[in-house]
Amino acid sequence: MAQPRGQQNLEVHLNLNVRGMAPSATVAINERSDELRRAGRDVFKLGLGQSPFPVPGPVVEELRAQAFQKDYLPVRGLWRLRRAVADYHRRTQGLQCTWEDVLVGPGSKELMFLLQLVYYGDLVIPTPSWVSYAPQARIVGRQVRWVPTDRGDHWRLGAEQLAAICEQDPNRPRIVILNYPSNPTGGTYGTERLREIARVARRYRVVLLSDEIYGELHHKGQHVSMARFYPEGTIVSGGLSKWCGAGGWRLGTFTFPRSLHWLLDAMAAVASETYTSTSAPIQYAAVRAFGGGTEIERYLWLSRKVLAGLGRFSARRLQAAGVEVALPAGAFYLFPDFSPLRERLSARGISDARTLCERLLEETGVAILPGSDFGRPPEELTARLAYVDFDGARALVALEHAGGDGAPDEAWLRAYCGNVLTAIDRLCDWVART
Ligand SMILES: Cc1ncc(COP(=O)(O)O)c(C=O)c1O
Repeated sequence: MAQPRGQQNLEVHLNLNVRGMAPSATVAINERSDELRRAGRDVFKLGLGQSPFPVPGPVVEELRAQAFQKDYLPVRGLWRLRRAVADYHRRTQGLQCTWEDVLVGPGSKELMFLLQLVYYGDLVIPTPSWVSYAPQARIVGRQVRWVPTDRGDHWRLGAEQLAAICEQDPNRPRIVILNYPSNPTGGTYGTERLREIARVARRYRVVLLSDEIYGELHHKGQHVSMARFYPEGTIVSGGLSKWCGAGGWRLGTFTFPRSLHWLLDAMAAVASETYTSTSAPIQYAAVRAFGGGTEIERYLWLSRKVLAGLGRFSARRLQAAGVEVALPAGAFYLFPDFSPLRERLSARGISDARTLCERLLEETGVAILPGSDFGRPPEELTARLAYVDFDGARALVALEHAGGDGAPDEAWLRAYCGNVLTAIDRLCDWVART
């Protein structure tokens, strides 16, 4: 059809690296769930990995008090915040770092992107891994090497598997990303495994990005940083999004060893030409968050208790229904594997993870993400379930009033995390009908 003058379509000239890219899988499932809810359907949003808890009171108050802060801040971050982050790592993990080692950014995701942009080398990640590492590598034209893992090992990165990949070309520059507690599995690493991985990392001189954004959400509060074992090559990634319930505030931090300051410098240079600096009021409020103290400790203690109780209960119900899933150790995810039901599912026309998730959403209203979005083979019947569809503020108040004692039992979980339990019931009923 002829276009009116001035409205002719311009030709499409997209960077080859982003041609055909769709929005991030987690964002897409959230939008689809909202659409179905608007259409009047019951939808259980176990797709998007967002903290159910409110930002702790003292941190919100600080943001209110700092709302007047309007100036651009230094590109590497507010000095007081950089010092608070370094103090936090020293206090919680005994790391030898100072404010000069810290880079603040608008979300750790953006910092990861900058890292991949400035570093010239391959990206090595276990399968499954968080959804955005591989697409970021693709955008900047880096090669991704997926390291195979086993369900029996809770899908963890194995030192031998990592060594096998590095040995193929020992001098090749590489970034290895280790993420624990893990999105998507809810699993974590013990010190022995961290030591083994550190040995391999040191042997092949890899840059190790330790994504510890869920560290404070280790269900027993026993997170151990990789930087304790490979201090010279580990960048620790963190931020406010998960433990502080402030994903939308957009604040992330990277903490570098001295030997990798050349990466920090290069990232800061690119940041200065792109986003300039992170939101000023948010940085001032983050000083309060990283400062810790009894109120924040209490908030974390209660959050962990709710997540541990809910995660374990949900996993056990799924196990009883015949789904393979490990009990979680941290964060708010499960990575169920429906493979034991493959034959029955296949009789219903379901033989890959994407169809499984689409049919679950249509037939039960439960939104979860296919394992293939996390780098698993499409025909494997794995999925990621985020047990976050409940009112975290209400749950924290209720647990506080109950004195915080004892693990939340089923009656408590039904009262305060009802949507998640109903979703798990629906999943289990659906499985029983297959
Ligand atoms: C494993 C992991 N790393 C990093 C991020 C990015 O967090 P943010 O950019 O909010 O700091 C997320 C968020 O979902 C995540 O799950």
